[in-house]
Amino acid sequence: MKNGTTLLLLAALVLAGAACLTFWEGGSVTATAASLEATDSGAPSAMVIFPVGEKANPAGAGLKPVAFNHLVHEKRVEDCASCHHTGDTVSCTTCHTVSGSADGKFVTLAEAMHSPRIAKRPEGTNTPQSCVSCHAQRLRERDCAGCHAIVKPARDESWCVTCHNVDVTAEQRRQGSEGTLAPEENEALAAKAVEAKKTATPLSPAKGPLKVTIDAISQQYEPNVFAHRRHMSSLMEAIKDDKLAQAFHTRPETLCAACHHNSPMSSTPPACGNCHKPNIDPAHPERPHLKAAYHLQCMGCHAGMNVARPVNTSCVSCHKERAPQR
Ligand code: HEC
Ligand code: HEC
Ligand code: HEC
Ligand code: HEC
Ligand code: HEC
Ligand code: HEC
Ligand code: HEC
Ligand code: HEC
Ligand code: HEC
Repeated sequence: MKNGTTLLLLAALVLAGAACLTFWEGGSVTATAASLEATDSGAPSAMVIFPVGEKANPAGAGLKPVAFNHLVHEKRVEDCASCHHTGDTVSCTTCHTVSGSADGKFVTLAEAMHSPRIAKRPEGTNTPQSCVSCHAQRLRERDCAGCHAIVKPARDESWCVTCHNVDVTAEQRRQGSEGTLAPEENEALAAKAVEAKKTATPLSPAKGPLKVTIDAISQQYEPNVFAHRRHMSSLMEAIKDDKLAQAFHTRPETLCAACHHNSPMSSTPPACGNCHKPNIDPAHPERPHLKAAYHLQCMGCHAGMNVARPVNTSCVSCHKERAPQR
């Protein structure tokens, strides 16, 4: 296959580059590409993707370029063609430039990286994936699907900078966008960004209560005793090794905010009843009333994760019928 030769050539280049490029003119880069574990594919372990194009996009002006960790991805995504959808293992920016090019059917760089959903292509052809569309697909798998069925992610500044994270000089940026930055310098910049990457340590389940007795509206039923800590532990245990979750859950309290939403992240969040009233509040018709708020949240996650017990229709597995009052 034609890719074989490209790969060998590339591997040779990488080896040659890594041997001599420990230090850059100006001393701005000290990490080397060789400091990361090598890939099996022969692709660089990590690389910086620059906004390649003749004209700069004003929307990208304040953003740093992106370090892409090829090593992490190729360990988890088996088929090269999931990403290299044309079968050529070359830069995406060969075809997808800032303002688009004929080779990429004018799909711009931003679209190739961010398109949230991509229609399935006909049998026998690859469906392209953007960074965002593939990550969103992962969120529908069981370990993630419960919380993500009830979470509306803010996708704010901290979301952008989780990807747009490489410090470059104005000169490096110019060369990167023109496509004239030496591959070794590109890899060294990426290696430095990978090594500098910090992830937030999630709050321990023990920071929340062991059990919570929910009796805000009990009438027909006994109060619900909610196994708070056990819920936290099993949700966290399932995702603890996932690097995507680690990178994007940017605050210690992020996981708590799945249920304790719409308020500043905190280890002592406000009660649901602060915002959800026993009857729909005419001033906030978009908020479900309190019983529905509990039901939709508990059942939304259970449905998302196919939790076997309790089934949503088994009312008494969550709350026992009250003995008739005299
Ligand atoms: C999952 C990773 C990821 C996230 C999250 C992300 N981007 Fe990007 N974005 C990329 C990649 C990769 C590129 C292509 C490389 C580059 O331009 O630096 C890109 C390119 C862009 C471009 C085009 C660059 C240009 O100059 O034309 C813009 C604009 C942009 N991103 C804006 C944003 C904004 C704003 C956010 C947050 C709301 C965001 N991105 C979040 C990965 C991401
Ligand atoms: C999860 C997506 C993904 C998978 C899977 C993947 N790659 Fe890549 N690969 C990329 C991205 C993104 C780049 C950087 C493109 C750029 O710089 O514009 C890249 C870059 C490369 C490069 C360097 C291209 C260049 O000219 O700079 C090679 C070679 C490569 N990949 C080979 C492979 C091979 C072989 C496989 C399968 C074993 C593979 N890739 C799997 C996304 C992926
Ligand atoms: C050889 C040229 C070429 C290369 C290299 C290339 N693409 Fe594409 N890409 C295209 C063409 C042509 C289309 C439009 C046809 C289509 O959608 O099937 C396209 C479409 C896409 C789309 C669909 C956008 C949408 O919203 O429908 C995404 C996403 C995409 N490419 C991502 C990538 C990524 C990521 C890489 C690098 C890993 C890459 N492409 C490399 C040519 C290329
Ligand atoms: C085909 C699916 C797929 C595509 C496309 C993809 N990713 Fe990922 N990404 C993953 C998976 C799966 C993980 C989790 C890997 C793990 O846990 O080992 C991940 C993890 C990550 C992480 C966290 C680990 C790290 O590198 O620090 C970042 C950041 C990231 N991806 C950025 C990107 C960017 C930028 C692109 C586009 C250039 C991209 N991803 C394209 C599937 C994908
Ligand atoms: C305990 C609940 C919980 C679980 C389980 C969970 N997440 Fe999240 N996640 C959240 C919350 C809350 C946010 C929103 C943070 C914000 O809005 O700033 C979030 C945001 C994200 C984002 C950024 C937003 C987006 O849509 O791109 C990614 C990526 C992500 N999570 C990945 C994962 C992955 C992968 C898994 C499974 C391996 C997972 N999460 C499991 C609670 C959870
Ligand atoms: C996943 C757990 C769960 C399931 C299953 C469930 N509920 Fe609830 N329900 C709750 C919680 C939590 C509350 C709030 C408890 C409180 O404040 O007393 C609640 C409150 C209620 C209330 C208002 C409080 C009261 O005592 O009048 C009614 C009525 C109710 N549920 C009916 C039902 C019915 C009918 C079903 C079966 C179709 C059902 N629930 C299934 C968790 C559940
Ligand atoms: C799976 C959903 C969920 C997650 C995740 C979650 N909580 Fe809660 N938490 C609840 C519910 C439901 C209540 C009861 C609230 C009410 O009835 O007003 C509660 C109540 C609380 C209370 C009040 C306890 C009391 O006795 O009044 C605290 C404090 C709290 N949570 C902290 C946390 C912290 C810290 C985290 C993250 C480590 C967290 N929670 C994660 C669902 C959750
Ligand atoms: C600080 C105010 C506030 C608190 C506290 C709060 N909510 Fe909400 N909630 C809202 C608002 C505002 C909306 C409607 C806007 C939206 O869709 O996010 C909402 C919407 C919802 C929805 C509808 C689905 C959705 O996400 O849009 C559910 C279910 C819900 N809340 C459950 C809960 C539960 C359970 C708790 C306690 C663990 C809680 N809320 C605590 C403000 C709050
Ligand atoms: C974000 C996801 C999520 C939310 C929200 C959630 N649960 Fe669960 N729940 C789970 C998972 C996962 C299991 C099964 C794993 C386990 O038993 O720990 C479970 C199991 C249970 C069980 C059976 C195990 C036991 O402790 O007896 C009950 C009862 C339960 N949940 C009640 C509730 C109630 C009541 C609420 C709302 C106040 C709720 N859950 C909200 C994820 C969730």
